[in-house]
Amino acid sequence: MPDTKKTFNSISHVYNLINNIISLGKHKKWKKRLVLGHTIKGNVLDIATGTGDIIFLIEEYWKESALYATDPSNKMLDLAIKKNVKKNVIFSENYCEDLHFDNNFFDFVTISFGIRNTKSINNALTECKRVMKKGATLKIMEFSKSENIFLSLLTTTYLFLIIPFIGLLFGKFKEYYYLSSSISNFYTPKQFEEILLDSGFRIKEIDTFNLGLVTIYTATKP
Ligand SMILES: C[S@@+](CC[C@H](N)C(=O)[O-])C[C@H]1O[C@@H](n2cnc3c(N)ncnc32)[C@H](O)[C@@H]1O
Repeated sequence: MPDTKKTFNSISHVYNLINNIISLGKHKKWKKRLVLGHTIKGNVLDIATGTGDIIFLIEEYWKESALYATDPSNKMLDLAIKKNVKKNVIFSENYCEDLHFDNNFFDFVTISFGIRNTKSINNALTECKRVMKKGATLKIMEFSKSENIFLSLLTTTYLFLIIPFIGLLFGKFKEYYYLSSSISNFYTPKQFEEILLDSGFRIKEIDTFNLGLVTIYTATKP
């Protein structure tokens, strides 16, 4: 796995534009689905916040929240901080595997398309659990591997022909090839559910959509 901080620093200026192109604008709808699915209040942390899409949606829809957002890429964070016009969000530079927050502090934690970039998913989930209060909610949105052979073939073609080609047009072939590989190597919803259970979370809901290619996992800390 490449140094993800370096990778995201190098694509930060084209990240939102390419995201819109490769998801055909759909990522905005998916993010709303994550934010509007359950009541969000209290201390909220968005991990792998990137340019802050999730935390600013939470700011818009859930007024009774204290907002924190974190990412290891300082350049992605710079773009998020520019959007922080109401100054409601506290941003910080952290890897998910090493969060600089107190134990049992957060009521709600979100990770949108970030968990697959961590060096160790187990360490990342252990850290999430450490900073969550008992009974707090974790919501993870991630691409999921399809078990349908036809869909799987279609996705592989899209991931390894179209996405790297679009990356190439922006001079970022290597970075987008990595992103495609990380999506292709990620788990089926069933496999990731097992990982969450093994990490000590209780599953509340598994919501798979977009032809089974995106999943929102909602889990709680017992
Ligand atoms: C695909 S972007 C997603 C950004 C945003 N959450 C969204 O949905 O648009 C992945 C983000 O994960 C961050 N990241 C990479 N490695 C990470 C790690 N080990 N821990 C936390 N975040 C990481 C990257 O810097 C990047 O901003």
